[in-house]
Order: sequence, then C-alpha cells, then structure tokens
Amino acid sequence: MKAAFTISIRLCLLIFAQCVSPQSDRFLNFLEVQRAKTTYVSQELKSEDFHIHVASHNGLKEADKISRLPGQPRNTKLNHYSGYVTTDPQNGRALFYYFVESAYEPSTKPLVLWLNGGPGCSSIGGGMMMELGPFRVNKNGKTLSRNKHSWNKVANMLFLESPAGVGFSYSNTSSDYKYPGDTLTAKDSYAFLINWLERFPEYKTRDLYLTGESYAGHYLPQLAEFILESNKNTNHTIINLKGVAIGNAYIDKETQRKGRHDYLWSRSMVSDEIHDGIVTNCNFTWNSKYSDECNAYLKQENDLVGNVYAYDIYAPLCINGTSSETYGFDPCGLDYVESYLNIPEVQKALHANFTGIPGKWRDCNDEIFDNWNDEPFTVLPTIQKVMDSGIRFWLYSGDIDSRVAITTTQYAIKKLNTAIKTPWYPWYLKEEVGGYVTEYEKLTFVTIRGAGHFVPSCQPARALALFTSFLQGKPPRDM
Ligand SMILES: *[C@@H]1O[C@H](CO)[C@@H](O)[C@H](O)[C@H]1NC(C)=O
Ligand SMILES: *[C@@H]1O[C@H](CO)[C@@H](O)[C@H](O)[C@H]1NC(C)=O
Ligand SMILES: *[C@@H]1O[C@H](CO)[C@@H](O)[C@H](O)[C@H]1NC(C)=O
Ligand SMILES: *[C@@H]1O[C@H](CO)[C@@H](O)[C@H](O)[C@H]1NC(C)=O
Ligand SMILES: *[C@@H]1O[C@H](CO)[C@@H](O)[C@H](O)[C@H]1NC(C)=O
Repeated sequence: MKAAFTISIRLCLLIFAQCVSPQSDRFLNFLEVQRAKTTYVSQELKSEDFHIHVASHNGLKEADKISRLPGQPRNTKLNHYSGYVTTDPQNGRALFYYFVESAYEPSTKPLVLWLNGGPGCSSIGGGMMMELGPFRVNKNGKTLSRNKHSWNKVANMLFLESPAGVGFSYSNTSSDYKYPGDTLTAKDSYAFLINWLERFPEYKTRDLYLTGESYAGHYLPQLAEFILESNKNTNHTIINLKGVAIGNAYIDKETQRKGRHDYLWSRSMVSDEIHDGIVTNCNFTWNSKYSDECNAYLKQENDLVGNVYAYDIYAPLCINGTSSETYGFDPCGLDYVESYLNIPEVQKALHANFTGIPGKWRDCNDEIFDNWNDEPFTVLPTIQKVMDSGIRFWLYSGDIDSRVAITTTQYAIKKLNTAIKTPWYPWYLKEEVGGYVTEYEKLTFVTIRGAGHFVPSCQPARALALFTSFLQGKPPRDM
C-alpha cells in the first residue's frame, strides 16, 4: 500500500494543484513558485550546451554485462547490461541504466530509450520491472517471472534513471539535488546517450526512438529537440533519431487541468451540478489563480470521486500490501519492485550502488520532486518543433487513467497545428477492439482500450501491438 499510495499522492501533487490531500496547500505554493520560474529549454539552448564530456569506454561494456539476476526464471537467455555512465566528471554525476538486447536478431532492430516521469521516478522500477521489460517481480519481492509481452521482442530497450538522484543515479556533489529541472535533465540525458554510444559503438548509427510516459511528456520532446539541434552543431556522434512516442503524456498545464475534470464527469464519477460549477467558476489558464468558488467546487469534486486508484479507475486498491487477485493490473506492483531492488545481491548483480548511496532504493525521490525548479507550463511549442522536423511523433493514451486522462491529450492536440489525415477509427487485436486511432499530418494519436496510466502493465498485448506498429511507422489497424 505504502509505495503505491505515496506515489499517487506525489504525482497527484505535481500534476494537479487542485488535488486535495493533506499537503495540497504546500503544493499550491510550490506551483506558484514554479510558474514564476517558467523557462523553456528551447529558448535556452546555446552552442556551449552541446559541449559535453566524452570519455573513453573501452572494456566497460563487458564489465556491465549481467551474468545472472537473483531469482530469475530458469532458462533465461538474454544479453543484458547495466551500470553507470558519468555525465559530469567534475561534480561526479553518474546516471544508471539497464539495457536489454532484442531477443530476436538484435542487429536488425532499432534502439529504443524508455523514460518514466514523476519528475523523480525511476524508469527501471516502473518501466523495466513493472511495465515493459523482460521480467516482472513476483509478489514475494524476491523472484522474477517472464513478461511474454516484453518490448525487447521487437527492439533493443534502454532504460535510464534520470536525473541524478533518481533510483541508483547519483551525484557526489549534493547541490546537484537542489536545483533539478527540465533543462538539466535534457542535457544530462543527452550526455548520457553520447557516452553510452561510446560504450556500445555498434549502436552509434542505429535508428533511435524515444519512448516513455507521464512527465516524460516533458523529458522526451525536450530531449528530442536537444538531439535535433545538437546534430546540427556538434562534433560528437550524430544521433539517428527517428521518432518519439509518449503515453498518457503530461504536456500542457491548461488542457491538463480542464481535461481531467471533464474526464471524471464523463466517467460518471461526479455529479452534473459539481462539474457545471467547476466549468463556470474555474479559470484553467496556466497562470491564473483559482478563485475561492472554484476551490470549493474542486474540493467537492474530490469528495464525490472518493477513494479510487487514479491511475486506473477500475483497478482494486493496494491495501496493506495486497490487492484483489481478479484484476489484470496489480496496483501493489511497485511494492514488490522496491523489495527486490533493495536486496544487496540484486544491486550487486546489476552493478548498482557500489558507492553506497544513502537511503533505500525508492521508485520516486521526494527531494528531487520537491526541488524541481524548471518546468515550462507547456511543451507544445517544443512538440510542434519536433513534429515539424519530420520525425515520427505519436501520442498514446490508456483510456481508464484519470491522472493524465485521455481528454487532456485530446485537448492538447487541438492546440497543435496539424490537420486530420485519417479520422478516428477502431483498431483491432485478434478481433477485439484494441483502441482507436486518429492520424494527423504530423502526429498519430492512439488509444488503448482498458488501459490505465501504466499502459503496458494493464494491457500488455495491446501495448506491444501498439509499440510494434509505432516502430513500423504504420498506425495499428488489424493486428
Ligand atoms: C563518486 O565518489 C566515489 C567515492 O569517492 C567514487 O568511487 C565515484 O567514482 C565517484 N563518482 C563519479 C561519477 O565520479
Ligand atoms: C569538439 O568541440 C569542442 C568544443 O569546441 C572541443 O573542445 C573539442 O576538442 C572538439 N573535439 C573534437 C574531437 O574535435
Ligand atoms: C483567466 O485568467 C487569465 C490569466 O489570469 C485571464 O487573462 C483571463 O481573462 C481569465 N479568463 C476569464 C474568463 O476570466
Ligand atoms: C490494514 O492495516 C491496518 C493497520 O494494521 C488495519 O487497521 C486495517 O484493518 C487493514 N486493512 C485491511 C483491509 O486489511
Ligand atoms: C546502497 O548500499 C548501501 C550498503 O552499502 C545501503 O545501505 C544503501 O541502502 C544502498 N542504497 C540504495 C539507494 O539502495
């Protein structure tokens, strides 16, 4: 219960100023401060930003190879690696990654980076161990089972814990934890990629796709822009970026705010009267302060919705570390992951934490979250640039997530400059509707029916079908 609960509060705090919780006042203040500091990575990119440290990585790939993970299933045949890449030698800042080659013909498959959000949450805890990696952690927190819908069936998957302070990623300079933000995260992720490609040079010219979910709605467009700009200026490796796909993406404060309330109402979770009151009294413009009337309606809305797991509104709750067995998605999943990743032998097998990072491994880091100090209110201009560059750009949405609800994405797309090419149609997986597609000139929007915020956890087969069609550059139709 604890992990999942803390995490929901945390995301709820960052993403929704109006979310009512004991800490909400503190968070409202936090958001006010954030607004005053709003900056854009796109306005700040200067040529010196691309001067990053590139080290020699001779022999480090072999040292990162994982021989065996404690509790792994019998007959595990995987080429997987994990370890640290230094992004700033002066400060002693290093980011932790896990990389798994495709199970089939890896040399013919693209390289795909996956990032979870938060900000402050781990891509290894969430993405790799609970969503789309080759393993899932069993309920005992000690053993692993195979995920037969792992995305490494069709791609070489790279998971990165970023920025420093998240998961096993660290800095030897504690002030690095004081001012984390979007710009630093984009730069460090870029420095990571350039150095990682020195360690795995056979991937230097490989097609690269960026994927992730939630607050990675910020990270990924910003990183894509950084790569595209730096490719023009750099004497480092030219990164062969081909596309970006983001699930339940947090990309625009205004549509995020409005879209969530409309979603709750459309799912019959609040009354018409309260929803009308919100629509009439709340000004969702990103920099407007909510009126007292608005706040009163938001509080009533919160009371009416009740205690529902916001990331998957039909899932059972994780209560005292257990949940009902009958539902496909287990909201206690991150508890099992936290137990597993805190086992010393597991950390050793992963080549993690050899410097003795204080505290336990946690899926999300409060300090990073609380100190987040650089966040534009919208990344739509960055997304527009990335779309206009001609690379593939997809947004997908699990349709039973109320945290970053599907309506928020639909409203955000309306603000982008792109015309509909193929109107809304159902896509099928084995004769069942997997979700719906709208193809725009420069963007593809796909829904996944019956999936919550963590799409590959809730609907593994549909998520893999979606990912496969993304890599093929063909919107799903009949799979
Ligand atoms: C951080 O400090 C430890 C202990 O001195 C050292 O082993 C490690 O290499 C340093 N990390 C980086 C990225 O420089
Ligand atoms: C790349 O550019 C930087 C900054 O101009 C310079 O210091 C460095 O020596 C260059 N590296 C190579 C390999 O040319
Ligand atoms: C909403 O707030 C914005 C920013 O404070 C303001 O410009 C706008 O006029 C407001 N809209 C309404 C309908 O009051
Ligand atoms: C969860 O634990 C608390 C404290 O031990 C207990 O009061 C409560 O009844 C438990 N809830 C369930 C559903 O078992
Ligand atoms: C790192 O290892 C030390 C033991 O050397 C342990 O006390 C600490 O909890 C670990 N840190 C993390 C983040 O797991």
